[in-house]
Amino acid sequence: MQTAPTYPTTRNLSSAPALANVLRSRRQRLAETISFPVLLWSGMAKPRNFAANLYPYRASSHFLYFAGLPLENAAIRIEGEQLILFMDDATLDDALWHGPSPSRADIAQQMGATEARPLSDLADLAVGTATLGEKDETIQMLEQAMLQRGIVLPRHQPQSNQVLQKAIVQLRMIQDEGAIAAIRQAIAVTVAAHKAGIANTPAAKTEAQVRAAMEAVIISHDMACAYGSIVTVAGEVLHNHHYHNLLSPGDLLLADVGAETADGWASDITRTWPVSGTFSATQRDLYDIVLAAHDRCIEAAQPGAEYADIHQLACLTIAAGLVDLGILSGQPEDLVAEDAHALFFPHGVGHLMGLDVHDMEDLGDLAGYAEGRQRSDRFGLAFLRLNRPLAAGMAVTIEPGFYQVPAILNDPQNRDRYAHMVNWERLEQFADVRGIRIEDDILLTASGCEVLSLDLPTAATDIEDLVCSTSELG
Ligand code: GLY
Ligand code: MN
Ligand code: MN
Repeated sequence: MQTAPTYPTTRNLSSAPALANVLRSRRQRLAETISFPVLLWSGMAKPRNFAANLYPYRASSHFLYFAGLPLENAAIRIEGEQLILFMDDATLDDALWHGPSPSRADIAQQMGATEARPLSDLADLAVGTATLGEKDETIQMLEQAMLQRGIVLPRHQPQSNQVLQKAIVQLRMIQDEGAIAAIRQAIAVTVAAHKAGIANTPAAKTEAQVRAAMEAVIISHDMACAYGSIVTVAGEVLHNHHYHNLLSPGDLLLADVGAETADGWASDITRTWPVSGTFSATQRDLYDIVLAAHDRCIEAAQPGAEYADIHQLACLTIAAGLVDLGILSGQPEDLVAEDAHALFFPHGVGHLMGLDVHDMEDLGDLAGYAEGRQRSDRFGLAFLRLNRPLAAGMAVTIEPGFYQVPAILNDPQNRDRYAHMVNWERLEQFADVRGIRIEDDILLTASGCEVLSLDLPTAATDIEDLVCSTSELG
């Protein structure tokens, strides 16, 4: 007898807790905060040019958190421990074009749903539910239609979507056992992808070839990229999505690549390595400064620590290192007070990570910033994505960097403001460094943190050894 297909999920792995148990526990914890019913949609694939040619589909992260499966054109209603799944069974045409798929009943069982109903029942059962106010246009349209018909609760009521957003942020911010198992899976594949990228560099002629070696590992594990890969010799372009450059022996190659599990859990790792297999003396000096910042931040990460203080530690370490190299002059504390470090380290030291690589950034700074805190527009703080005390169970990145961004360094106002703090002639000697970032994913524990991506070395000599090692494709 043919067994019914199921949706792939990391929960199928023996080490992962059963999906239904994970989801029940999430509903129980949500019920501790809110007492009204909630409606969440999965979303739908968007056409690229015509209806049968679609962009790759990615379900809403909020839906994934409570539904656990990457369903399309589905909704769930949560009330207390109850979970109702709304979706239509596949048609004959669906089977013709897309092959067999699990039935609604089988999916509901996999999720531990209390009921499974067709989408046509949704309007009646959605009366009085709260919605989130999702960014995805396919979901927004459905939410708006239900709002206009007076079915879902209007916004700005006591049980409004803002209360729901806050409740979901509190839940998703602290990763449970199911989430941690999935994040570990994504990270294991990402570590293998980075090792493959590093090992393939000597044979590669272009950034695109190294990217291909890295993404091949992710694809061969039937995972997707959690974000557009950055594989570039122009590491000063923070989100560089071009891969056409040739690799030259004197280049540093910066790769920020992360896998995402089938059920949406992310990873986010960056390494920077010398194309030749050996850092030049100037590259090594700056690499070791970034690494010192990385290591000090990880040492300082523990429950109760303010993430903004960890960012500040990275700034101070980088400023002190640049003073030692003669690139900056002054006391590190004074330089950081003047934002001089931001000439070279203009972004924040990291962010929450979970179902989204920048977790819950669809809700603005609601997740990233503690209640009552506002993002600063100050140079060097404007891109700080996380500003709250750390707590056990949070997954965050630590990703200091050093960049020579021409637009920042040649800006006349910066030249003027930092004239006495930067030794521009000395800086010219470091022209073979465009961008260095070292990014790891950590999990806050009861007493400190665990570096989830520890299997990927960071020390300069280990990185050099990896460049020279044979290619292993995961
Ligand atoms: N991969 C994007 C980031 O590190 O924020
Ligand atoms: Mn990151
Ligand atoms: Mn990254």
